[in-house]
Amino acid sequence: MDIQQRYVKVKQLLEKYNQSHLLTFWSQLNEKQKHNLLIQIEQLEFDRVEENINRYIKNPAFSGLPKNFSAAPAYPAMPQTAQQKEKYEKAKKLGVELISGGKVAAFVVAGGQGTRLGFDGPKGDFAVSPVKNKTLFRLSAEQIAAAGVKYNFQPRWYIMTSPLNYQQTLKIFKRNNFYGLEPRSVFIFQQGTEVNFSADGKILLAEKDTLATSPDGHGGSLKALYKSGAAIDMKDRGIEYISYFQIDNPLINIFDPLFIGLHAMDKAEMSSKAVVKTGPFEKVGNFCLVEGKIKVLEYSDFLGDELLEKKNPDGSLIFSLGSIAIHIISRVFIEQLNIKGFDLPYHKALKEISYMDLLSGHVIKPQKENGIKFEMFVFDALPLAHKSIIIETLRSEEFAPVKERDEEGTDNPATAKRMMIDRAAQWLAQAGIKIPRKPDGSIDCRIEIAPSFAICKEDIANKKDKIPKIRPGDVIYLE
Ligand code: UD1
Repeated sequence: MDIQQRYVKVKQLLEKYNQSHLLTFWSQLNEKQKHNLLIQIEQLEFDRVEENINRYIKNPAFSGLPKNFSAAPAYPAMPQTAQQKEKYEKAKKLGVELISGGKVAAFVVAGGQGTRLGFDGPKGDFAVSPVKNKTLFRLSAEQIAAAGVKYNFQPRWYIMTSPLNYQQTLKIFKRNNFYGLEPRSVFIFQQGTEVNFSADGKILLAEKDTLATSPDGHGGSLKALYKSGAAIDMKDRGIEYISYFQIDNPLINIFDPLFIGLHAMDKAEMSSKAVVKTGPFEKVGNFCLVEGKIKVLEYSDFLGDELLEKKNPDGSLIFSLGSIAIHIISRVFIEQLNIKGFDLPYHKALKEISYMDLLSGHVIKPQKENGIKFEMFVFDALPLAHKSIIIETLRSEEFAPVKERDEEGTDNPATAKRMMIDRAAQWLAQAGIKIPRKPDGSIDCRIEIAPSFAICKEDIANKKDKIPKIRPGDVIYLE
């Protein structure tokens, strides 16, 4: 079809869906620009676009919240009965077998913009460790390499970026020689995008020949794993399970035999880790049970204060379990989601979106929220799984997100550093090493444990002779 025929077809399509304004500048475009614009419009899934407009834009009260739900059950962090203890032991053994057998791959979502952190560049390049100032990418890479040594397998790491930070991420990995990993064992790919809308449901133009788009959210990872060829690559290598994590958590335990083992033993398709929330309004997703299915209800989507504050007779919160965005996902589940026709729900966010003004032909950078972005969330796949389990874990062991620039509150670089030191001190103390403390009980030294030294507390026990005596004020790096 020549460009004129394509134009006629696209014009009809746009008229049908009330988006004809996208061709406003057609007569000003050169051939290359015309082709560029047509291709973007031809690739749009108009049925989904229309569904989004009708469901979320024309009907702003739509929340997608279920009517009836309760708190979701979870495996406890520590086994509570003899039977459970036995199950955990078996699961750990199975987990080790699966990891050693190369059945588990690491998968990080790193497509976010780190806007709240105010960091210019992929968040994975943000330096956070307390002694060596290692970046989030380096910490993950070193942990993956250390797991390969510990469990004697060839680890494989899948990394999802957005189109906005893909090239930068590649450059960072090359500049750092893939942090010592075999470059062929790292698979970096891009997530998809969604078009942006004005408040009245018109698709925005970013330029005269370019639609305004943004990354499709971490839920898009389940589609991108399939479309990028990562899922096939996994299948070819015999990988059955994917250890999913977010780049912003330096305490992540990527290859956890217990979690992997329980997921496999229970024949789950997608499983999650949870922590007890610090309070009713902590900004994490809430694990709920809706019609027998596990679902995460986002802090921003939730419920009203009253329900979040409701307590059990023992004083604990009813909705006490927060999602820390750590999952084991079976590869076959991802394949099935895509073969069936990928259909995660969208979440709407009001944002400041630069756009091409149709009257003046100039790009406008708005000072307040003017448009709508749509994102998918990975945890919306949980209710689609035949079986899904949750295991509770300790925040101090596994969750120190780096999200905010402001060092006054929580989830910032200072709190993450402190938690990394605290965990290192705890691992050493439980192996019998004396940790200096100030009169107020706080730790009086700075410690960083390299993944090559230990990736879990059990690894410390046989390395005690390599740990120096720690004096008040010392700065200790163990590798
Ligand atoms: C997220 C979860 C929340 C969880 C918390 C734990 C959502 C909506 N909520 O919150 O339930 O309790 O983490 O820390 O995600 N990303 C992409 N592509 C995108 C968007 C995000 O790869 O298009 C990645 C980011 O790089 C990051 C992760 O997803 O690694 C989380 O994104 P972020 O927007 O920071 O989520 P939160 O709102 O903090």
